[in-house]
Amino acid sequence: MRSFRAPGRVNLIGDHTDYNDGLVLPVAIDLECVVHATPRADDVVEVDWLDGDVGSDRYVDALRAVLGEQGRTDVGMDAWVSSTIPVGSGLSSSAALEVALALALCDVAGLELPPTELALACRRAEQLATGVPCGIMDQLTSVAGRAGCALLIDCRSLGVEPIKLPDEVAIVVVHSGLPRALEHSAYAERRAECEAVAARLGLTALRDAAPGQVADEPRARHVVSENARVLESADALRRGDLDKLGSLMSASHASLRDDFDVSTPELDALVDALGRAGAAGARLTGAGFGGCVVALAPVGEAHGLAARAADDYRLQTGLTPTPYVCRAVAGAGWLQ
Ligand code: GLA
Repeated sequence: MRSFRAPGRVNLIGDHTDYNDGLVLPVAIDLECVVHATPRADDVVEVDWLDGDVGSDRYVDALRAVLGEQGRTDVGMDAWVSSTIPVGSGLSSSAALEVALALALCDVAGLELPPTELALACRRAEQLATGVPCGIMDQLTSVAGRAGCALLIDCRSLGVEPIKLPDEVAIVVVHSGLPRALEHSAYAERRAECEAVAARLGLTALRDAAPGQVADEPRARHVVSENARVLESADALRRGDLDKLGSLMSASHASLRDDFDVSTPELDALVDALGRAGAAGARLTGAGFGGCVVALAPVGEAHGLAARAADDYRLQTGLTPTPYVCRAVAGAGWLQ
């Protein structure tokens, strides 16, 4: 029996940019999916959950199909899965499941895939299993995470540059208590809107648009301004300038809310509550439409700040938020 882990992720800044060949700045976090696996003599893949099932069958089927195209022989496997990543929260529970399962499926069949190929295969499996035309951020972050670092990812070249997080900064994540499923959201519609603007401008992707070309196009304006904010955020992080990073995160939330229209009143209320509680900056993270908000806080204050914001939000909305203070961890791999 061998065991594999794959982390979830939280995105500090750069949302709805990955499928526009753009830039993102996520962190692999210490909420993770673990798969224990042993090969079988037949070609049956049997997956059981140790702590509740999130409907993994569709992911298993999609992964077998995609990895088969990569040369995997159809070796059977018995596997047991557990995960600490809340489902439907925007923390990439499905990407982590795919990556951990893919590592196990490859291992029992003696196939070794380079990390980027593994992430691409898992992204393809996610698209097949859910029909959501997602980008590469979630799977690549789960594979390429680095302890103590955020990852500046260029989603065109798939280059990953780890940037050290200042020791005195904590990552606060608060689940809004509002679940979301991208299958039933406007995610695909937003992607199509972006591609339509790029096509009209004669560009491969919005990554190549200049601000002046999209000044009157709110969706594209978000993508172009967000890419610029990611680069500025990476600089702020290198300098340890938490105030600057915080103000870029707040600007990102406003852009996702006003130009890209993927926020909700509850997410806006949670961002405001975190601001009032003293966070340096706060924004919805991931696709939006519900799920989590991310904020930065000085290490010693993170738990108190998250608890105050959660109380404030609960009183305002009647929803039950769940706060997490996260650490940046290494990417997926074999658990010794
Ligand atoms: C989801 C997708 C990602 C990305 C984000 C928004 O998490 O899976 O590819 O598009 O939404 O940034």
